[in-house]
Amino acid sequence: MTCNFPPTETNPHFVSTEKPLLRALGGHPVWPPPLWLMRQAGRYLPEFRACREKLPFLTRCLTPDIATELTLQPIRRFGMDGAILFSDILILPHAMGQELDFVENLGPVLTPIRDDAALDALQPEAVASFIAPILETLRHLRRALPPATSLLGFAGSSFTVSCYMVEGRSSRDYSITREAMLKAPAFYDRLMALLTDATAEMLVAQIDAGAEAVMLFDSWAGLLPPRFFRRYVIAPTRQIVTAIRAKHPHVKIIGFPRFAGVMAPIYAQETGIDALACDTGASLDIVAESLPDSMALQGNLDPLILKSGGDALTQEAQNICRSMSHRPHIFNLGHGVMPETPPEHVAMLVEAVRMQKRPEIL
Ligand code: CP3
Repeated sequence: MTCNFPPTETNPHFVSTEKPLLRALGGHPVWPPPLWLMRQAGRYLPEFRACREKLPFLTRCLTPDIATELTLQPIRRFGMDGAILFSDILILPHAMGQELDFVENLGPVLTPIRDDAALDALQPEAVASFIAPILETLRHLRRALPPATSLLGFAGSSFTVSCYMVEGRSSRDYSITREAMLKAPAFYDRLMALLTDATAEMLVAQIDAGAEAVMLFDSWAGLLPPRFFRRYVIAPTRQIVTAIRAKHPHVKIIGFPRFAGVMAPIYAQETGIDALACDTGASLDIVAESLPDSMALQGNLDPLILKSGGDALTQEAQNICRSMSHRPHIFNLGHGVMPETPPEHVAMLVEAVRMQKRPEIL
């Protein structure tokens, strides 16, 4: 018999009625750990590719019925605990008027913004109406998702979005953007201030529309030396966290400062986020040593191990779960699902995480 009273972790029969992902984000260990995957809606799924052939990426993001369907595809197939809104971090600069296209084999292409005149032409006041279809998607999703699945909203962090805005395309080192910090600090600080306010507002709007938690992707955070990391990663993230908390004090925020290395736990503590998403190179147990027990860690299986499959996949996934079984943990990859990943490997991974034996320590 199970019993959910009294509500305490020390009762071995305790069963929470909270959604598992939200419970872990709230600082409680959950076994088996809740699971979702970055880029779980993507080209590795045949049903996604079928839709992709018919419509351009931005149309898919901005058409509520389609974005809802694409968000739900991995949930239907694999039953993840988290559904992440189908959209993109570059919708925000596009909503402010920056031209954006996604080009096959090249990725995003934007008209670069490198001076005050280009910045003056942006229209942050246009964001609210531009993102209306995305908010509609979130409202659809809240109605369509299974009861235990949590709905995640997201945005790029100011620094990572600025990289694409200034550079105009993907780059190995975003040197034009980083040079702008040095050579045109007034311009760059203005861009960051504008982005930070717009990002906070957009995330608040996503939460108002039904997102139950939000994630900030700072994919290029690890490019910055520590002093710049504090100024352009930690400070704006703290500002976004503070602005969200002022409107939605209980909504949990996941931060992903990719490649931040030893700065990642400092980021976690100084920004005020609730959960730290770890990239593939992080050792979760070492990161955990410098964080409070109640801070959830998310991650961090190598997407290449998922693509390769076999025993290594099961072993590595279970090792990660066991090493985190005593603390709040959300299973995920260290970066997005690779397009060449066989969907059967994702099914294997979900089973490996869900079916493993509960370690004694819990
Ligand atoms: O399933 C999900 O994870 C939710 C949706 C999502 C997408 N992009 C969809 C997408 C999320 C959360 C993102 C975040 C994102 N977008 C990041 C941060 C995470 C990371 O990957 O580091 C970044 C840097 C971007 C910018 C971006 N969008 C690039 C560089 C590219 C091209 C590379 C690629 O994978 O094609 C995109 C396109 C993109 N975003 C696709 C998807 C599903 C592929 C578009 C297609 O279907 O052709």
